[in-house]
Amino acid sequence: MTSTGVRASFRRAMATSLPLLSRPRRNRRNATIRGFCRETHVGPEHFIYPLFIHEAEEDVPIGAMPGCSRLGSAGLLAEVDRARRLGVNAIVLFPAIDESRKSSAGEEAHNPQGLIPATIRRLKDKWPDLVVVTDVALDPYSSDGHDGIVAPDGRVLNDETVEVLCRQAVCQARAGADIVSPSDMMDGRVEAIRRALDEEGFAEVSILSYTAKYASAYYGPFREALDSAPRHGDKKTYQMDPGNVREALREVELDEVEGADMVMVKPAGPYLDVIRAVREATTLPVAAYQVSGEYAMLKAAAANGWLDERRAALESLVAIRRAGADVILTYYACQVAEWLEG
Ligand code: PBG
Repeated sequence: MTSTGVRASFRRAMATSLPLLSRPRRNRRNATIRGFCRETHVGPEHFIYPLFIHEAEEDVPIGAMPGCSRLGSAGLLAEVDRARRLGVNAIVLFPAIDESRKSSAGEEAHNPQGLIPATIRRLKDKWPDLVVVTDVALDPYSSDGHDGIVAPDGRVLNDETVEVLCRQAVCQARAGADIVSPSDMMDGRVEAIRRALDEEGFAEVSILSYTAKYASAYYGPFREALDSAPRHGDKKTYQMDPGNVREALREVELDEVEGADMVMVKPAGPYLDVIRAVREATTLPVAAYQVSGEYAMLKAAAANGWLDERRAALESLVAIRRAGADVILTYYACQVAEWLEG
């Protein structure tokens, strides 16, 4: 019935005191019927689980991200094993790199013996079918804490950075990464990485592009986790302005022609309108990243007894899916999968 029709029937019912013809509550009256009507689902098959790793053996908890640690190799294997048992079969790795290995051009990012390639090999050895996603950006390796190379005058250099990113992506693919995921926001990096991968024989490795990544305060806990905050300045000359949505669509158009396999919006919760706009602008799968700050807020409220964590976390993820995300990167992946198992 049209909304005019609904209004007319309501007015008629009021005028004649006939029973209402249309009662939406009938579809909500018990769990089974609500199940018929549920439009959006969320489950472990939608998740990519971000994990922090470091060279040390012990696991070190991250202050603002309760439940997350910088993992040593044993801790990582245990956590991946747990994720797989819960049906979460995709992870994305973020490395905390020793200060002594950082440099202004981030050479460690493409060291074949580096932490990330060595870890990928170990994981793929044990679980060939695990989907391993890697982050392509220089910030964990940069002595300046930026995603790209910083010139003496403070500018973040685009094309010079893209060359290093290509080497980083190829190095990750060679180690066995299934999906490389550029989070740096340099112009033209998707096409350059696609060509570099193809030239090296990695035509089957996918690119999940951080297409619309905003210059957000919600990355704070992540930067603490990796000790990767910019040493000076901010990331506003490459990450997007939080007020913009048309610009996100421009980035989508570019990533499509440059050969991205999936596009991402980040952060997720505060940018549901952007997820929706991107969903409508492309036929590619859309990912969204529920970032460290979104996770920290839920955890903090829950720890204070101010929110029911289980319900609030699930609601936040259903909302991201409803907005149009196919895939969600979330630190809640395992916990939610556990809750859903009951
Ligand atoms: C950096 C990167 C960041 C995150 C993922 N990759 C931080 C940043 O851009 O400073 C943030 C993820 C999170 O906050 O959970 N390449």
